Amino acid sequence: MKALVLAGGSGTRLRPITHTSAKQLVPVANKPVLFYGLEAIAAAGIRDVGIVVGETQAEIETAVGDGSDLGLDVTYLRQEAPLGLAHAVLIARDYLGDDDFVMYLGDNFIIGGINALVDRFKAERPTAQIMLTRVPDPRSFGVAEMDARGRVVRLEEKPEIPKSDLALVGVYLFTSAVHGIVAELKPSWRGELEITDAIQGLIDAGRRVEATVISGYWKDTGNVDDMLEVNRLVLESLEPAVRGQVDENSELIGRVVIEEGASVRDSRIVGPALIGPGTLVADSYVGPFTSIGADCAISDSEIEYSIVLSRSSITGVRRVEASLIGRDVEVTPAPNTPRAHRLLLGDHSKVQISS
Ligand code: G1P
Repeated sequence: MKALVLAGGSGTRLRPITHTSAKQLVPVANKPVLFYGLEAIAAAGIRDVGIVVGETQAEIETAVGDGSDLGLDVTYLRQEAPLGLAHAVLIARDYLGDDDFVMYLGDNFIIGGINALVDRFKAERPTAQIMLTRVPDPRSFGVAEMDARGRVVRLEEKPEIPKSDLALVGVYLFTSAVHGIVAELKPSWRGELEITDAIQGLIDAGRRVEATVISGYWKDTGNVDDMLEVNRLVLESLEPAVRGQVDENSELIGRVVIEEGASVRDSRIVGPALIGPGTLVADSYVGPFTSIGADCAISDSEIEYSIVLSRSSITGVRRVEASLIGRDVEVTPAPNTPRAHRLLLGDHSKVQISS
C-alpha cells in the first residue's frame, strides 16, 4: 500500500499565519499539521509516500525532505495548477501503479491516527473507504447522504443546502479501481476534478464504498478558537520532558516540555505547556495549554491558553490569554499609559481585580 499526500494549494486565507506559508505547515503544538498526517501514515506501516506539491513546493520540501526522519520514502509529484484532488490522483497514476493507496489531505488532522481505518480496509478491501464527521456548517465540505442502512447514496461537493451534517474527511482509501473513474471525470462548476465525484462514480457503478463516522477531526478554517482547541487537544497527551535549562527558582507543574536550548529562569510553568528550542522564559508565568515556538523570549509576562510561533517576544505584559501570535512578533506594553481601570459597575457588584 502507498500513500498520496496532498500538499498543494496556497494559503489564501487572511490570517497572517497561513498567508505567508503553505497551509499544511500551520503548527499544532509546535509541529506542522502535515507531520501528524505523515506520522499517522508511517504508524500504519506505509513507507512509500507521494507528496503532491504546487506553488509552495520549496517550503514543503524544506520541511519534509526525503522523509527518512519519519521512516518514509517520499517522492514529490508536481501539480502545475490546483486543478482538484482527483487531478492529483490523475498525475500520480504512474507513481501509484496498481497499488491500494491512502489519499491524505495534508491540512487535515485526525486525532488518533489512521491505523484502525487501514486495518479495516486491508481486511475487507472495499473499492473505497471514506470517513465522515459531523460538522456545524457542512457547506465548505463534501457532504454525504446516507440511506436507512447507513450506506452512502450521494456525495455532494460544497452544497449550498447540505442534505446532512456529515462532512467528508480528507482521508480516503482506494483500490486501483478508482483510476478508471478518475480518467473519465469532467471538471466541476469550480473547474476542478473532484474526488467527491470520483467516489460518487464508484457508488453509481455499484462498487462497494464503505463509510465510517469519526470524531476527533480538525481542519484549519482560519478560526483562532479552532486553532487553540486543537492545540489544547494535542497538548493534553504531552509527555513531560526537560531537555533545556531550568533554574532552581523556577517551578514546572504537570505536563511540561522544555526543548533543547530553552532556558527557564525565575518562572512558573503550569502544564500542559510546550517551550520550544532556544526559547527564553524569564520572570514569567506560562499557564496551561500554551505552545511557545522556537527562539522566543517571554520575559516579565504572563501567558496562558495561547500559541506563540517562532522568534517572537513578549515583554512586560500581563496577561495574554486565548491568543495566537505569529512569527517575529514583538509584544510590549504601550508606553506612557497610566495603569488604570475604567469601571461601570451596577449596584451590589463584586469585582476581582488582579492589581
Ligand atoms: C476537499 C474535498 C471535500 C472534503 C475536504 C476535507 O475540499 O473536496 O470533499 O470535505 O477537502 O478537507 P477542499 O477544502 O480541499 O476544497
